[in-house]
Amino acid sequence: MQFEVFTLLPEVFPSYLETSIIKRARERGLIHVRVHNIRDYTHDKHHMTDDTPYGGGGGMVMKPEPIFEAIETVLGLNAEPTQPKPESNIPIIMLTPQGRVFNQSIAQELSQHEHIVLICGRYEGIDERIREHLVTDEISIGDYVLTGGELPALILIDAISRFLPDVLGDPTGAQDDSHAMGLLEYPHYTRPPEFRGWKIPEVLLSGAHAKIDKWRREQALLRTFKKRPDMLEKAELTKEDKKFLERLKSEVKSEK
Ligand code: ADE
Repeated sequence: MQFEVFTLLPEVFPSYLETSIIKRARERGLIHVRVHNIRDYTHDKHHMTDDTPYGGGGGMVMKPEPIFEAIETVLGLNAEPTQPKPESNIPIIMLTPQGRVFNQSIAQELSQHEHIVLICGRYEGIDERIREHLVTDEISIGDYVLTGGELPALILIDAISRFLPDVLGDPTGAQDDSHAMGLLEYPHYTRPPEFRGWKIPEVLLSGAHAKIDKWRREQALLRTFKKRPDMLEKAELTKEDKKFLERLKSEVKSEK
């Protein structure tokens, strides 16, 4: 999988990309990340990438020419100036708080592509023609505003890469994650079995795999019920799950 990142702050990326699982995935050729400086595609003396907004008002707006040129050059799309969106099935994603809100299923969907473009916005905004004639998708990482799209781009690269074969040491890793099954993950414990008097749940020492699976499923349901009840509406639930949840609900009612 190849990521092409377009940014005005390329120096933000190396430290994260050269660490841990993402570093190993890059070294093993499972993912490739190329970071392109939008400023390299300016032709004026001051290398301007932004300008004041038409109609007045505060802030600066990212200019269209350098971003179009950068992406068309890197993707080898030589669009005529009058031609709308260059023909390509590569997603050209703008990171913006106006986009659809990123989640695990969007990460999985994007992991099916071999090539993805990520544009990191800065300043107050971007010229609307970039959105209309270049970008094919807009993604937000949540309902808050950051100073730019660099952290969101890293978040997408990380979450998408985890779905690619062999990126995680444990091949079932991505399937068991919180959110993967539409539920939060069950609690984990490791040695020692007792720490400051706090013991791990007995069942985990039993060696009875069916019992452990049942306990984990119920814990995942319990956690989701307590912390993210909204997720239960979309989760795939078995008859047993539904029964367990009914019991939880009636327990809560009787506590009130
Ligand atoms: N740029 C600024 N804020 C953002 C957000 N919440 N998501 C994606 N890109 C952004």
